[in-house]
Amino acid sequence: MDNRSLVSIDDYTKEEILEVLARAAEFEKNPNSNILEGKVVASLFFEPSTRTRLSFETAISRMGGRIVGFTDASSTSTSKGETLNDTIKMVSNYADLIVMRHSIEGAARYASEVSDVPVINAGDGANQHPSQTMLDLYSIQKTQGTLENLNIFMVGDLKYGRTVHSLLMALSHFNPTFHFIAPKELEIPRAYKIFMDKNNIKYHEHSEFNSIINDADILYMTRVQRERFVDPLEYEKVKNVYILKNDMLKDTKDNLRVLHPLPRVNEIAVDVDANPKAYYFTQALNGVYARQAIIAKALNL
Ligand code: CP
Repeated sequence: MDNRSLVSIDDYTKEEILEVLARAAEFEKNPNSNILEGKVVASLFFEPSTRTRLSFETAISRMGGRIVGFTDASSTSTSKGETLNDTIKMVSNYADLIVMRHSIEGAARYASEVSDVPVINAGDGANQHPSQTMLDLYSIQKTQGTLENLNIFMVGDLKYGRTVHSLLMALSHFNPTFHFIAPKELEIPRAYKIFMDKNNIKYHEHSEFNSIINDADILYMTRVQRERFVDPLEYEKVKNVYILKNDMLKDTKDNLRVLHPLPRVNEIAVDVDANPKAYYFTQALNGVYARQAIIAKALNL
């Protein structure tokens, strides 16, 4: 494995997280450069994406690099039965870096083990989404002035939400207090509870939403991940359990910011968008700078 890969957020130490965030701030000040001149980045999206793919591709373009890749695996030789092993081995002969999204948990780790160039995990099933985590951390640091000692409320699909899993692990370096709000069927997986217990991370689980968010510094809303459900009836039961409405924010702290990795379905009412505490569209913009910093680190630039 190329040890410059970013497959899981715990591939970065706390110091590396802070170093990448500082670099992201530099890219925000000066997004355009030629530091990727002569480099080719392969963008392999086996699963749909809007923000992750386009912000990676924007980041690469703004740094003067070139992009090859696909957005639909059915147009590739995967549809003829080519294995992930063979695809990655071959693409790593073409490109200097691979950005990959895949539906199978562990696919990014596997790709990083067979690739000759670094691999950045752009989301693997319900497992991890570490580049999203870096933009989430960047957004939290920008809006709160710190990552330390924050009250983080996570709402919605905490079982299948890979952004939740990566963010929880990253924030564990910064003494958070977590509040998890989810229906029983979508509660935070046991493996993450064991991780928090082992690392003395404070957390509370709730099923009630309305009355408990007034202490929050960050309200991290998530979409119920329809594509991860085996039984569509199970999805129907939980899809509308928590909907954030503008009037629910009236007694919340001034510094509260509402984050969402997006896409949203209906878990945030549209009237929240005009509230100054709504930060999710700027959060998505921050993805360009965070991904520029991740790419620079992966290529030692
Ligand atoms: N946040 C996120 O991963 O969005 P996309 O699925 O649109 O890339």
